[in-house]
Amino acid sequence: MDITFKKAETLKEHPEDSTLGFGTVFTDYMFNMDYNPEEGWHNPRIEPYGPMAMDPSSMVLHYGQAIFEGLKAYKTDSGDIQLFRPEDNLKRLNGSGQMLCMPELDESFVLDALKQLLKIEKDWVPSAAGTSLYIRPAIIATDPYIGLRSSNTYRLFIILSPVGAYYPEGFDPVKIWVTTDHVRAVRGGVGQAKTAGNYAASLYATKLANEEGYTQVMWLDGVELKYVEEVGSMNIFFVIGDELITPELNRSILSGVTRDSVIKLAKSWNVKVVERKISIDEIYEAHATGQLKEIFGSGTAAIISPVGQIKYNGKEITIGNGAVGPLAARLFKDMMDIQYGKVKDSFNWITAI
Ligand code: COI
Repeated sequence: MDITFKKAETLKEHPEDSTLGFGTVFTDYMFNMDYNPEEGWHNPRIEPYGPMAMDPSSMVLHYGQAIFEGLKAYKTDSGDIQLFRPEDNLKRLNGSGQMLCMPELDESFVLDALKQLLKIEKDWVPSAAGTSLYIRPAIIATDPYIGLRSSNTYRLFIILSPVGAYYPEGFDPVKIWVTTDHVRAVRGGVGQAKTAGNYAASLYATKLANEEGYTQVMWLDGVELKYVEEVGSMNIFFVIGDELITPELNRSILSGVTRDSVIKLAKSWNVKVVERKISIDEIYEAHATGQLKEIFGSGTAAIISPVGQIKYNGKEITIGNGAVGPLAARLFKDMMDIQYGKVKDSFNWITAI
């Protein structure tokens, strides 16, 4: 399939790298492709970024049949552009699509399309330390129909956004509120899919956490409200004694690409990494005995986000001395060094553009 290109009449001004936050600035072009049962995925095109005309009855607007991904392109010191583990994101996009009854994508075709888009938009990749070009592929259900079933037609789009830090705190430790009234996902639900509804479901508890002065919510399992699942929109890690522990993938936790990278990096340093169920009570006990050394989240947007305090059942504890722990700091640095091409990529995670 050939990808068509429509040139923009005017190009936007680029913001200063130093002003970049997260997710508010979008580049000049986007990639679009449509699906219907007769033609399959068709009409791949790179065209100016802009509003999409949609029927108000489009199924995505009513029943949330929508999935997405988040990955980043980085500029190296020599000015080259590179992607971090894009194949894994596209594979997960297809996995989410399967759970949401969407048609499969040809992952290598979409990766080629993304590379073409990035070649056109390469000047939008910022170069200041800690900045990158966030890539948001998404698939939405487009049938104009308000009965409940899965859609027959879909739109895939990829938009690009130059970004700085995800949290206003940057790499400073965040305060986390453990909710016992709300859950993110339940057993047998769609927690492992990167689907819009999971994020919508997280908003109310996050609002309550914010009102209490906490940045993010720690989610417990949806069955017993006992075992830790995720934090905010990130996977979560605990350093207890000399082990790095993260909740095992149980189909309600998102299988994070950064989570997997943390596990592989830490193992390569001979850190003992354990994927298992971990209860909130165990975390408080480990804190009481002085064994809880660090907590941090991992995700594409935030990379590594250290946790300074958590509050559960009215009791707040401070992790370490509330400062960034040594393992979180090392992971953050080494991950960024690979992403920005400052060190050899011995894991084969980098795709050059
Ligand atoms: C990411 O980390 O890339 C995500 O998709 C989370 C989103 C809430 C920004």
